[in-house]
Amino acid sequence: MKSIRNVFAGLALAGTALSQACQTTTLTSSVPSNGMELALASYWYCGGTLNATAYIANLDYNKVVSLYYTNAQGQSTPLSVVTFGYSSSIGNGDFELWTTSTPIFIDGVTKLLNLTFQATDIGQTYAQTLNLPVNATGAAAPTLASPPAPYATPKGFGEDITSWLSINVGSEAETAFQKMFVNINPNVTGAVKGVVVAARSGPTYPQTDPDYEYNWVRDASLTMDVVQSLYSASTKKKSQSQYEDILFEYATARATEQTDPNLQTGLGEPKFYLNNTIFSGPWGRPQNDGPATSAITLIKFANDYLANGGSMDTVKQKIYDSTTYPASAPMQKDLLFVASNWSSPSFDLWEEEESDHFYTRMVQRRALVSGAAFASKMGDSTTSATLSAAATALTATLGQFWDVNRHTILYEYGPVLHGKSSYLDIAVVLGVIHGYAGDGVYGFTNDEVLSSALRISTSFIDVYPLANKTTDSTGNILGIPIGRYPEDVYNGTGTEDNGGNPWYLCTAAMAQFMYSASSQYADDGSISITNISKPFFDYFTPTADLSLGQSYAYGSPQYNHAINGLNGWGDAFMRTIKHYTPTDGTLTEEYNRNTGVPQGAADLTWSYASVLTAAFARAETRGQKGYVRNLANLGVQANTAA
Ligand SMILES: *[C@@H]1O[C@H](CO)[C@@H](O)[C@H](O)[C@H]1NC(C)=O
Ligand SMILES: *[C@@H]1O[C@H](CO)[C@@H](O)[C@H](O)[C@H]1NC(C)=O
Ligand SMILES: *[C@@H]1O[C@H](CO)[C@@H](O)[C@H](O)[C@H]1NC(C)=O
Ligand SMILES: *[C@@H]1O[C@H](CO)[C@@H](O)[C@H](O)[C@H]1NC(C)=O
Ligand SMILES: *[C@@H]1O[C@H](CO)[C@@H](O)[C@H](O)[C@H]1NC(C)=O
Ligand SMILES: *[C@@H]1O[C@H](CO)[C@@H](O)[C@H](O)[C@H]1NC(C)=O
Ligand SMILES: *[C@@H]1O[C@H](CO)[C@@H](O)[C@H](O)[C@H]1NC(C)=O
Ligand SMILES: *[C@@H]1O[C@H](CO)[C@@H](O)[C@H](O)[C@H]1NC(C)=O
Ligand SMILES: *[C@@H]1O[C@H](CO)[C@@H](O)[C@H](O)[C@H]1NC(C)=O
Repeated sequence: MKSIRNVFAGLALAGTALSQACQTTTLTSSVPSNGMELALASYWYCGGTLNATAYIANLDYNKVVSLYYTNAQGQSTPLSVVTFGYSSSIGNGDFELWTTSTPIFIDGVTKLLNLTFQATDIGQTYAQTLNLPVNATGAAAPTLASPPAPYATPKGFGEDITSWLSINVGSEAETAFQKMFVNINPNVTGAVKGVVVAARSGPTYPQTDPDYEYNWVRDASLTMDVVQSLYSASTKKKSQSQYEDILFEYATARATEQTDPNLQTGLGEPKFYLNNTIFSGPWGRPQNDGPATSAITLIKFANDYLANGGSMDTVKQKIYDSTTYPASAPMQKDLLFVASNWSSPSFDLWEEEESDHFYTRMVQRRALVSGAAFASKMGDSTTSATLSAAATALTATLGQFWDVNRHTILYEYGPVLHGKSSYLDIAVVLGVIHGYAGDGVYGFTNDEVLSSALRISTSFIDVYPLANKTTDSTGNILGIPIGRYPEDVYNGTGTEDNGGNPWYLCTAAMAQFMYSASSQYADDGSISITNISKPFFDYFTPTADLSLGQSYAYGSPQYNHAINGLNGWGDAFMRTIKHYTPTDGTLTEEYNRNTGVPQGAADLTWSYASVLTAAFARAETRGQKGYVRNLANLGVQANTAA
């Protein structure tokens, strides 16, 4: 047997050697003489790299030359395009030679579609239709790199994390809770009720840089979502009414934002001063996730308020009915904005890229799905039907984000940020955390979501030197430090090469993801291993020895083993946060990629909110029904209260 195999291996090698040479297809070797402004001269796809040369008329100074192709699946996507660079001037300078040499093996190529030349200065675009088949030549193309082998196999919940998150004075959970409320209705001159300051960093705080002394629509809505969870869980009248007051003030503040006379991009305006008037300086706008997450929070609040005996009239006047009560009720207006604008590009949650974003679509979807049900409850069948129709149309677009060649959900689909060559962003995980509607569409146990969580989390291992520290002083396992995306250059105040750091809220997101996946599997009743999900389990629970194509029922030994792995990693990610948190429990935005020292904005509200929601998810998967209640019943301290 062995010798026969060797014979075949030898034959295969000889075959490879024969096809080592790159084969060029030459279309023309002289500049176009037919009045054309461009012509593809030659191309070859060799060893996974597409090389091509083109003649481009020298019509203006700024030129953008692109070659569109179809990928291995025969599809044209925003990723199946390469750009050319200037190479040389030809003859009297009327034409230039432009070239490209781009590795495209991950997408693959089957056909060249067209060559496009944008003469930006004169506002002209020229194109040459190609429709040329491409055959691979040369050495075999590389394949997508596999995720690394796991550096540790944490299992089960850790006593250290249980204690760190306990409901006791001075615990991290209690500290995060109190510090979050300090930033709600902050004690800053001019601040109005219902606003959330993004961090204690800005003109009136001891730390002035960066200036986060604003009320961001996104941050406020995600913070108020935590207040809503506390409202929902509280069994003490006094604390419950504190949360209720804060949430009604928040609803009013949101209505004030919506009616600001100086909105530049409608309800997608991302940022307001603490007096709740618009920030109208240059900024990445619109950011169309804010109206969605605001509506999601208020839908939950209104449902709980009604369940607690609140009146329908109050809900309509102070939360829902923007048509009749525009000055006080924001929800319907935000929902209808989402319904009519979900397909428009907008800036992402990091405020950097205008495109179609998975995070934004996910939270918009959840707003539409739960909004349709809530509108029905309000007797508003017209709005309900509008929201339902938009939800259906939006849902049909989500599949396009899956990149079958990269085994990840793309964080955006559309003009792609070229600096983010990994195409990975924790925004995908945050999209599931904040946007999963509980209806089986892109939930925590979705194969594509699992694969994406694996790809983005392991991408930071080679990026942050800090990732080399894998245990704390007691030998407990530290999870991978998680940032926004591997190519990040923002260091908390400015940008610099290799400046991006792990963020507390991104690390908490991975912890929460693990806990929520664990809970969801219990609801699903089994774990199924497919070729998409297997790498996730191979990394996070390799010793469970799960096999492709198998399904492991709730309670079976392999199921329990796998869940232990997810819970162990959840705690490992939390332990990383714990390890790089100062003893007073304060959380900045980020911790340094080399040293782990806190960096960036002080007391970032979203950092506190994210540790709390991860703690809530941990308690849920541990079956600790009283956890959120006990925290909620602490109530807001007088000096920080509304
Ligand atoms: C492709 O282009 C690059 C850059 O010009 C060059 O170094 C490389 O040799 C080319 N590949 C082949 C196979 O000609
Ligand atoms: C070139 O192909 C791309 C991808 O199919 C398409 O979007 C674009 O419109 C085409 N450009 C021209 C000028 O035909
Ligand atoms: C690609 O291969 C097909 C058949 O395998 C052949 O007909 C075609 O001419 C080749 N095209 C190029 C550009 O080499
Ligand atoms: C709100 O606060 C900003 C920043 O302090 C200030 O420029 C603006 O004039 C204030 N607007 C109102 C209406 O007070
Ligand atoms: C919202 O949609 C309307 C019309 O559908 C459009 O005019 C407006 O520009 C959109 N706004 C944003 C912020 O996307
Ligand atoms: C981690 O340590 C290894 C071995 O010391 C080193 O090769 C690697 O570059 C380090 N990783 C980072 C991100 O610094
Ligand atoms: C962040 O980058 C800026 C440059 O944009 C630099 O001035 C600053 O010192 C850096 N901050 C830290 C903490 O390294
Ligand atoms: C994964 O499985 C699906 C369905 O069973 C199959 O269509 C696909 O080709 C497989 N992909 C890989 C990479 O094996
Ligand atoms: C608000 O801040 C002022 C000035 O820093 C301080 O005197 C006052 O006690 C604070 N109020 C509360 C309720 O914390």
